[in-house]
Amino acid sequence: MRFRCERIVGTTTHIKGFINAYKEAFGGAPYFEWYTDDQVLKEIWQPHIAHGVVMIVTDEEQGGRLVGFGCAMPFEYAPDDVKQFLTSLDAEGKLPPEFDHRSSWYMSELGVLNEYRGLGAAWELVKQRMRSVDHSGATQFFMRTAAKGSLSKPMYIKMGSKELADLQDVSKTKQATENKSKADHRVYLWGDVRTVAQHIDEIQKVRGYIPFDTSGIDID
Ligand SMILES: CC(C)(COP(=O)(O)OP(=O)(O)OC[C@H]1O[C@@H](n2cnc3c(N)ncnc32)[C@H](O)[C@@H]1OP(=O)(O)O)[C@@H](O)C(=O)NCCC(=O)NCCS
Repeated sequence: MRFRCERIVGTTTHIKGFINAYKEAFGGAPYFEWYTDDQVLKEIWQPHIAHGVVMIVTDEEQGGRLVGFGCAMPFEYAPDDVKQFLTSLDAEGKLPPEFDHRSSWYMSELGVLNEYRGLGAAWELVKQRMRSVDHSGATQFFMRTAAKGSLSKPMYIKMGSKELADLQDVSKTKQATENKSKADHRVYLWGDVRTVAQHIDEIQKVRGYIPFDTSGIDID
């Protein structure tokens, strides 16, 4: 199989590929953000390797080039502004009672290199990430994305995620001031990890995307 999806555990092999893919994915629409290699390494790669999940897709016909990534971490390790936003919505009674945000996982990062988009890599990354979170014992997830022009919101809606009514203004956060994000509001979506993973399975079959080699993923 041409594409391989695997979880990064205890290796530094893909650091350069991850940094490159991260800068490309978030350097374009709708975010247009700027990161140094060191920021991606210290603020994204290292915390996810230590406390969360880093799932990648590689192109085996291009020497195992990293072409996509999906990261997740438990709520307690999410960025402060994410935790504060959900905590204050909760205090104001604005979260659905069935959404237990404190025990859920934050689906924090997702990106695919431009030339590899539209091949189903994001579906596989998100499905395997959900399965990995399911395996860790958590039942719910949430994610945030640009309120306008998001490329990932359509897929999260198709897989059965629910949208929170309130938007987060991120115009004063580091993402806007330091990383120059052009997307100044975020919308939050949440759902049940096992249910959406099953939905993605069905979507993949209907859409007929090429299969991914997942033999290295040590779950089930
Ligand atoms: C979002 C992103 C990861 C999708 O990657 P991808 O590998 O091209 O996605 P897939 O081929 O697996 O398609 C998954 C679904 O995403 C949605 N999607 C992908 N690109 C889209 C686009 N340009 N416009 C609208 N929806 C899009 C579709 O719903 C698609 O479902 P389909 O099979 O019914 O068509 C990629 O566009 C990207 O890296 N974007 C920049 C970074 C980003 O926005 N990340 C998400 C932050 S929350």
